[in-house]
Amino acid sequence: MTTILGLSGSLRRASFNASLLRAASGLMPEGATLQTGSIAGVPLYNADDESASGIPEPVARLKDALMQADGLLVVTPEYNNSLPGVFKNAIDWMTRPADDIAQVWGGKPVAVIGASPGGFGTILAQNAWLPVFRTLGTRPWFGGRMMVSRAHTLMDADHELENAETRKQLASFLSGFVDFVRAGD
Ligand SMILES: Cc1cc2nc3c(=O)[nH]c(=O)nc-3n(C[C@H](O)[C@H](O)[C@H](O)COP(=O)(O)O)c2cc1C
Repeated sequence: MTTILGLSGSLRRASFNASLLRAASGLMPEGATLQTGSIAGVPLYNADDESASGIPEPVARLKDALMQADGLLVVTPEYNNSLPGVFKNAIDWMTRPADDIAQVWGGKPVAVIGASPGGFGTILAQNAWLPVFRTLGTRPWFGGRMMVSRAHTLMDADHELENAETRKQLASFLSGFVDFVRAGD
């Protein structure tokens, strides 16, 4: 079984990115599963707190989940043409202590997707993540793109992704990413 850890970078109850992540978990290819992690409860990074108390429990859980996973699916909102601070804060915590980076992140396949009510579907947020995942020594997948624009028009009343074309595109993206993960390096 191929296991992918999926993280949404929004804490909003009706988040389009959380919807996209939920849809992804139901559209994984055969023999693959998506485990959904949560950045809720991750405190603001403060090196003094880290020195005093070590790695907070929600962060330790995320690090463990990533270590166990074969790949990471990042579902990012876009804020001010870049990545959201709350999401970056959680990822930054997951890179502590720095001595763990190679074990947690090194060579990990990573794919980035995102949803926005605007017309550009998080393209600039996705680009903004690239130097982060490069510096962590990950193996980003560039074989597919998934930018969900006008996200509010694609959801049903329960905030689930209902648009058939987008669901098809997502399934195809996931299939390509899982193939990449399975192929190794
Ligand atoms: C501070 C802030 C800045 C934003 N900047 C952008 C932006 O640059 N591009 C964009 O497409 N949407 C932008 N938005 C709108 C978000 O795409 C929208 O709030 C979206 O619903 C956030 O994702 P979520 O639904 O997963 O919470 C911004 C929203 C906020 C709160």
